Amino acid sequence: MRYLHVFTNALLPLSCAALHNGAPSDNSMPPKRVAIIGAGAGGSSAAYHLSLDSTSSGHPTEITVYEREAHIGGRTTTVNAWNDPHTPIELGGSIFVEVNHILVNASREFNLSIASEDRPKPADAPELGVWNGKEFVVITSGGDGWWEKAKLLWRYGLAPIKVNSLMKSTVGKFLQMYEEPMFPWQSLGDVVEKVGLLETTGKTGEQLLEENGIGGLFAEEIVQASTRVNYAQNLPLIHGLETMVCMAANGAMAVEGGNWKIFAHMIEKSGATLHLNTSVSQISKQFDGTYTVTTSSGKSATYDEVILAAPLQFTSLVIDPSPRHVPDEIPYVGLHVTLFASPHKISPEAFGLKASELVPQFVLTTLPPNEKPGTDPNGAGSPGFFSISIVSGGLNPHSTPSNRPETIYKIFSPHAIDSSFLSKILNVDVPDKEVEDDGPVTWIHHKLWHSYPYEYPRVTFEEIKLDDGLWYTSGIESFISTMETSALMGKNVARLVVEGWEGRRREEGQVFEGLKEQMGQKPLKAKL
Ligand SMILES: Cc1cc2nc3c(=O)[nH]c(=O)nc-3n(C[C@H](O)[C@H](O)[C@H](O)COP(=O)(O)OP(=O)(O)OC[C@H]3O[C@@H](n4cnc5c(N)ncnc54)[C@H](O)[C@@H]3O)c2cc1C
Ligand SMILES: *[C@@H]1O[C@H](CO)[C@@H](O)[C@H](O)[C@H]1NC(C)=O
Ligand SMILES: *[C@@H]1O[C@H](CO)[C@@H](O)[C@H](O)[C@H]1NC(C)=O
Ligand SMILES: *[C@@H]1O[C@H](CO)[C@@H](O)[C@H](O)[C@H]1NC(C)=O
Repeated sequence: MRYLHVFTNALLPLSCAALHNGAPSDNSMPPKRVAIIGAGAGGSSAAYHLSLDSTSSGHPTEITVYEREAHIGGRTTTVNAWNDPHTPIELGGSIFVEVNHILVNASREFNLSIASEDRPKPADAPELGVWNGKEFVVITSGGDGWWEKAKLLWRYGLAPIKVNSLMKSTVGKFLQMYEEPMFPWQSLGDVVEKVGLLETTGKTGEQLLEENGIGGLFAEEIVQASTRVNYAQNLPLIHGLETMVCMAANGAMAVEGGNWKIFAHMIEKSGATLHLNTSVSQISKQFDGTYTVTTSSGKSATYDEVILAAPLQFTSLVIDPSPRHVPDEIPYVGLHVTLFASPHKISPEAFGLKASELVPQFVLTTLPPNEKPGTDPNGAGSPGFFSISIVSGGLNPHSTPSNRPETIYKIFSPHAIDSSFLSKILNVDVPDKEVEDDGPVTWIHHKLWHSYPYEYPRVTFEEIKLDDGLWYTSGIESFISTMETSALMGKNVARLVVEGWEGRRREEGQVFEGLKEQMGQKPLKAKL
């Protein structure tokens, strides 16, 4: 989402979520036991906000987080280039933006440093280019000087300004979801309708842009390059809201050392018991309304509430009995992420440039004119990939002599990247085994993610409360799939859980008061 700040430069107002009032704690209450399945953005945020909300409402709470991987962060995680802990590289969620209030606030609260943009820039290489498989349709220097603006104005007219104002009004609607009276929401469908975004999720990006008088080159070249790099989807498929999310690139940032640190601090701050390397295999509802959570190694424990913070379809979970609402299985993008280090530059010849020219640091892609993606999910089209970018630089500890400065690249593609693809873009012979300490590729990491859903237009969303005491965060991904929105859903569920306890405490209090009154009026015997 960082890629397009060249075109948009709105400063968006910060919103203020209502603060929760403190309440006296009742020491006589047994602690509420909550299990959270998944330590990604959603689960970590649920744990963190549950501990804040339960403390301020005076409910003692014991939180247990189960995570099947060996690390916190889920799809937000880093891998170390050359296995060197000095060079962590984001493998999944890599960028958040200034309107992402939960992440921005949390990184401030946890005193995390924001990574500086110290990408090694090949001298004078342009910042960004959009490649359509045949040619670069646009190349920008990244500067915001008058010449840059004039060039864009000439090519795109007023479209960038129109997109920017549409994006701002969309973000404004979305931010209402953080505040009372909208927050917390029991139903995603209801709140989306109330804030006025159902229109935007219900149509494609292409339709939304057309309706707003933004078609033609800007949509095809810039907006679509952005939906492709962020979601591996073209404009006729992805819904209008997610399209606008791609254009909301202001104040792009990342946490130094890895965005997962935000989530690790959230879990730590929550005081939760964390079980890593622990897969939950079954959730069983008991007659008394509690849940037994069983792990794949056969251990089980009982909880008052369970928060499922992972897409159900990828959890291998059995829920017994079947909950009132079972989330639908939906298609996810199978995205190949390839990270590699090389002493070489990307070859200009591979992109139809002269040998003396430089390939932009971010190569985004779009379809050539008249190539219709239709709704083919694997819509990379003639470019064959979604993006190739320089993400970092580093010193190769295994080169001779050691510590040779190299460039680290990231490729997003619908198919696995192999040595012949690498040979082509580097214009050198990359051997089949790919990696050699002094070769053209000195480190490589291949990862196939279920990265995000195909964001088909839709106007209904999964239930948040699957059953009494059973909650689900991942339905938000069909609305917007980002670290922030998962964190927002985690925070929302945490609030709903605590409000549920408060409601029950009030009811119990009323029943108790009622009983006392009745008992005061009549002898107890008469009641029996
Ligand atoms: C390549 C890529 C690039 C991206 N880029 C961005 C970006 O720039 N900015 C952005 O905001 N977002 C980005 N995203 C999206 C973002 O990473 C996700 O939306 C977000 O991290 C999802 O968080 P989550 O907590 O909802 O789910 P996850 O991160 O998937 O967390 C779910 C967790 O549950 C665990 N789990 C599953 N089943 C079980 C089980 N049975 N028992 C125990 N644990 C279980 C999983 O191991 C996982 O850790 C990107 C994603 C990818 C893949
Ligand atoms: C973020 O921090 C600001 C300033 O402290 C505060 O006003 C706002 O409510 C916070 N927002 C969220 C979503 O936590
Ligand atoms: C998780 O498993 C991995 C691999 O089996 C192991 O290296 C790691 O130490 C384990 N971590 C924890 C916290 O159990
Ligand atoms: C925040 O981090 C910086 C640099 O890592 C450190 O110098 C500073 O003392 C920290 N502040 C707090 C309040 O932890």
